[in-house]
Amino acid sequence: MQNVIAIDGPAASGKSSVARLLAGRLGWNFVNSGALYRAYAWACLKAGVPPEEESQVAEAAVSWDVTCGIEDGRSWVAVAGARLESELDAGATNAAVSLVARVPQVRALVVGQLRGFAEQGGLVMEGRDIGTVVFPGTPWKFYIDASAEVRQQRRAAQGLDDRVSERDRVDSSRKAAPLSVAEGALVIDSSEMSVEEVVDRVLGHVGGALGTPAREENV
Ligand code: DC
Repeated sequence: MQNVIAIDGPAASGKSSVARLLAGRLGWNFVNSGALYRAYAWACLKAGVPPEEESQVAEAAVSWDVTCGIEDGRSWVAVAGARLESELDAGATNAAVSLVARVPQVRALVVGQLRGFAEQGGLVMEGRDIGTVVFPGTPWKFYIDASAEVRQQRRAAQGLDDRVSERDRVDSSRKAAPLSVAEGALVIDSSEMSVEEVVDRVLGHVGGALGTPAREENV
């Protein structure tokens, strides 16, 4: 098991940009775990299964051929062998993803796939439950937050159709692995900070521990 930095937080808190830059600085792999949930949501729509029908999603999910891997230091996802890109941020995917991600059977599939990334080198992974469920043993946990207003503005500036507060409501209130601050996580409010400032803060916190060889007890 390699070293893992876990970064969690609500939608549009800036955690993807932070995780990507941080991974680049460290020469580690960057994994956006939300992309896997988005791939399941897209597969769900493609299969014609209504995302709000939890039992139908639970039953069908295992048959959706969702795969993932690392290329050039970052994760990719595919459905039935075809890589997904713009489909992941489409309005329909945004509207379905929190519904699909609340289904325990989907989460079990995704968590297994996410853990597999830790066999492939140092890892910066961002999501909602990375520090609480996927890698609870890592000593490096961060929770990146920002005000609801700033987060909605950031999404709008990206030109994306995304009801951030509605996704947060579903993500925080679901029974399976709700969004929460992991025990021992450092909380960083990025509302008034640049991506570089947040990355510097994270690097300052993990400090000299990085660069040591991967150790079993780190995860
Ligand atoms: O990070 P994102 O906004 O692309 O994530 C999309 C959705 O996936 C999010 O609304 C909830 C779900 N998700 C999750 O439940 N657990 C994760 N670790 C990552 C994402």
